[in-house]
Amino acid sequence: MRTQVAIIGGGPSGLLLSQLLHQKGIDTVVLEKKTKDYVLGRIRAGILETGFVDLMREAGVSDRMDKECFVHDGAVISFGDTEFSINFKDLTGSHVVVYGQTEVTRDLYDAREALDGKIVFNTDNVTIHGADTDTPFVTYTTDGTEHRIDCDYIAGCDGFHGVSRQTIPLTVRREYEKLYPFGWLGVLSETPPVHEELIYACSDRGFALCSMRNENLSRYYIQCSLSDSPEDWTDAAFWTELKRRIPAKYAERLVTGPSIEKSIAPLRSFVTEPMRWGRLFLCGDAAHIVPPTGAKGLNTAASDIHYLYNGLVQFYEEADREGIDRYSEKALARIWKAERFSWSTTNLLHRFPYQNEFDLKMQRADIDFLRDNREAQSVFAQNYVGLPY
Ligand code: FAD
Ligand code: DHB
Repeated sequence: MRTQVAIIGGGPSGLLLSQLLHQKGIDTVVLEKKTKDYVLGRIRAGILETGFVDLMREAGVSDRMDKECFVHDGAVISFGDTEFSINFKDLTGSHVVVYGQTEVTRDLYDAREALDGKIVFNTDNVTIHGADTDTPFVTYTTDGTEHRIDCDYIAGCDGFHGVSRQTIPLTVRREYEKLYPFGWLGVLSETPPVHEELIYACSDRGFALCSMRNENLSRYYIQCSLSDSPEDWTDAAFWTELKRRIPAKYAERLVTGPSIEKSIAPLRSFVTEPMRWGRLFLCGDAAHIVPPTGAKGLNTAASDIHYLYNGLVQFYEEADREGIDRYSEKALARIWKAERFSWSTTNLLHRFPYQNEFDLKMQRADIDFLRDNREAQSVFAQNYVGLPY
């Protein structure tokens, strides 16, 4: 098989790139390790920046999103006995939208299938060859048969555990990582959200987040121990703990119900540099991970896709390599800022095992400054709604 861009990974990054390139007549093949149902079953992000929404529009896949998404002009922050709202609209003129990653992925699969886009599922042993030459190719097996795709470029969109990043030699690749001493236990329930805005809460018992997908689908998270497993938490225990961590007025009106999904995600900050090696480009979780506080994971994947898509179009339409040559530099400049925001918001709102009295006072001073200072809120809001591409 031959294609212009071989895309490894059929998550949101790979699908969005494939769909965008299709709009410009650039041919792609997407290789996905799992089944479509498996990919659609993963409950992950829920908050999209307007930059992401614009890319979905440019890709021609925004009809359902435009109808069903919810615009959020602000969010609530609570810390012990203090609570305040940050109004993104007043502070930045912008907003975020609530539309689940599952829905984004479903819309992208539907669009690729309607246009006969080539997506190969259940691929094993995906291997990248000659990424540092002018004749790269990818091999993989399905049902025990080996296949080969020759291509001009390879987009590594295969997430944190994929093969693309590992293909870049350690003499070239540099990785930066920070692990946090806790995870997030997430619950999805068919109950109305406790409040119209998201609530980011820090209490003596740890962090909690009240989020949502629609009027009757809520997503809640609590900070938990890394040694916990979802089975350790009954629904009743989850709701009791959540109520203890959010302000009483919300706890009193929280509607609880059976969980329809429960999972634990460890928290990690991670960046690999460079994001390009020869004809291989890394995008999304394959290149970087943020802790989820601040909802930047999926949104940073989208900004990578924006830079790579535009670089590839510039190459194919104008024979100009400037965009692809500067891909890594442009993507990383934005990534590091999103890493900083996610790291600082995580530090601001979680309980750490080694915090002493002084550390707690510093955290409280940070919160009080944010509550009382419009400029500090403006900085938070600019980061939350998404830095410009
Ligand atoms: P992925 O979604 O990981 O997609 C990569 C795809 O590549 C997968 O489908 C995988 O099966 C496939 N793949 C892997 N290896 C291979 C291979 N060798 N060959 C072929 N295919 C391969 N972000 C937020 O903003 N908010 C959240 O609440 C949030 N929660 C999260 C919870 C969890 C458990 C995780 C893991 C992430 C979460 N994120 C969240 C982050 C967000 O979901 C990711 O940033 C986003 O999924 C990145 O998209 P991606 O396409 O780059 O990677
Ligand atoms: C969600 C996840 C986040 O990490 C976040 O900051 C906000 C919302 C969510 O899954 O809804």
